[in-house]
Amino acid sequence: MRVALLGLALAAACATTALTALGPGAKLVRSKCGGCHLAPEPGRSRQDWSRVLGQHRERVPLDDAEREAIIAHLARPR
Ligand code: HEC
Repeated sequence: MRVALLGLALAAACATTALTALGPGAKLVRSKCGGCHLAPEPGRSRQDWSRVLGQHRERVPLDDAEREAIIAHLARPR
């Protein structure tokens, strides 16, 4: 069941990729991270974003695919 759900989430993430050249992360960052403060800018390390999202676990519930897409977007080189 969990595997099936993860598959669905990944499929949804892929469908979003086709919609935006920047990838699914850019859209997710705008929708999930722009509510409380300005949407954060890319430019930190993966490790750093992973820490930030860990600190946001309670504030921003994310599934594995969303989390990965957001980190991939924010940790890309500027
Ligand atoms: C429900 C409100 C809320 C949402 C949604 C939210 N944040 Fe935050 N964020 C905060 C608050 C409050 C702080 C300041 C307190 C703190 O640092 O823990 C903060 C601080 C930060 C900081 C600075 C802290 C640091 O360690 O550098 C970053 C970066 C950040 N958020 C990124 C994000 C990202 C990425 C998302 C989307 C996944 C997000 N935020 C979504 C409330 C939110």
